[in-house]
Amino acid sequence: MPDRGFTPTQLAARAAYLLRGNDLGTMTSAAPKLYPHMWSWDAAFVAVGLAPLSVERAVVELDTLLSAQWKNGMIPHIVFANGVDGYFPGPARWAVSELAAHAPARVRTSGITQPPVHAIAVQRILEHSRRHGRSTRAVAEEFLDRRWADLVRWHRWLAHARDLDGNGRIALYHGWESGMDNSPRWDAAYANVVAGPVPAFHREDLEHVADPDQRPTDREYARYLWLLEEMKSARYDDGVLAKAMSFAVEDVFVSAVFSLSCDVLATIGEEHSRPNSDVRELYSWAERFRRGVVDTTDPRTGAAKDFDLRSGKWVATDTLAMFAPLLCGGLDRQAERALLRTFEGPKFCGHPDLRYAVPPSTSPVSGDFRSREYWRGPVWPVMTWLFSWAFARRGWAERANVLRAEGLRQASDGSFAEYYEPFTGDPLGSMQQSWTAASVLDWLG
Ligand code: SER
Repeated sequence: MPDRGFTPTQLAARAAYLLRGNDLGTMTSAAPKLYPHMWSWDAAFVAVGLAPLSVERAVVELDTLLSAQWKNGMIPHIVFANGVDGYFPGPARWAVSELAAHAPARVRTSGITQPPVHAIAVQRILEHSRRHGRSTRAVAEEFLDRRWADLVRWHRWLAHARDLDGNGRIALYHGWESGMDNSPRWDAAYANVVAGPVPAFHREDLEHVADPDQRPTDREYARYLWLLEEMKSARYDDGVLAKAMSFAVEDVFVSAVFSLSCDVLATIGEEHSRPNSDVRELYSWAERFRRGVVDTTDPRTGAAKDFDLRSGKWVATDTLAMFAPLLCGGLDRQAERALLRTFEGPKFCGHPDLRYAVPPSTSPVSGDFRSREYWRGPVWPVMTWLFSWAFARRGWAERANVLRAEGLRQASDGSFAEYYEPFTGDPLGSMQQSWTAASVLDWLG
């Protein structure tokens, strides 16, 4: 429980107040200044946090996101709020309405995707709805009726368009698709991206963060934006992207999340009498991607690796990605124990200098570690939440509780920061980040 700052009751009230403040009507901005639109995986975590406050409002969040789904099934990584500026790259830079055959007609979106955590939100919404009366339960069930096919289509797009060789690993064509933009996981792949000239731009993100060192560098941005130009030349066509993009990786963390989400969605489908063929397909993807994740692991340590499709090399890093199999399962007992020991040991949560026993995005003992630099070291509370939720689901109640308790101690400063310095506990990046508040609400709910 919190050792300083706000009490749990105060913290929950502030988290709820924050989500209300970030509510733009039918979407919650990921953060008020730095991210003034809806992000795909943020929206799912936000729905997890809204569910204990209002099942109805949580449903609206996912409906808004799914209304922006592309015709090929992709859920885009950003749904732009109407009439809101202040984020770059905005809709004009992505130009998907002009270029992409599959972009939705009435909603403005980006042209890439993000990790598929949405089934988790659907499950939390259904669970919360059961604590209410008939009308709230009906809202959740009608949502499932309305959106089941869309959710399956989303998963089918990932299983097909992003796993062309069927090896059970999701291919990504931009580091932003991983959600872990500048993680050391992608350094080698980005080093091989030769950025051509890109139209002039102004980095809005640096207007909103106190210290530019907490954000990706200009060098990194030059490549991020070059990849957008490559995608535009490919007119965001799935088949062309697979061949043309100079950045192409198999993301083991996203693959594990996908396996897990397929399992969750299949379970929901079974419980709610959805078509057997859908349920069977979802279970088969869960299994294929679990295998795909386990196939990357070191048999002794259990640690998972990404794969760089362009250089043909495995990418082993001491980052959260190595723990992918803990999310989806599938390791043999010994390897799983070894991997849990690493997670809890001095490389990660058990590092003696950590302020809270929660996993940093990159191991503090790694040469790549930077304590304040976005995905190169800081602790991301929403990742703590994801591991605590997944551990609970895997039957590791004690481990889940420790993460929850430590995550809440960290959050008790009330800043709801996007990420935190692991040793000092300084809040970094954006303050009032919606998914941080959502994680706290779920923990306290
Ligand atoms: N996370 C990216 C950003 O920082 C975009 O998805 O803007």
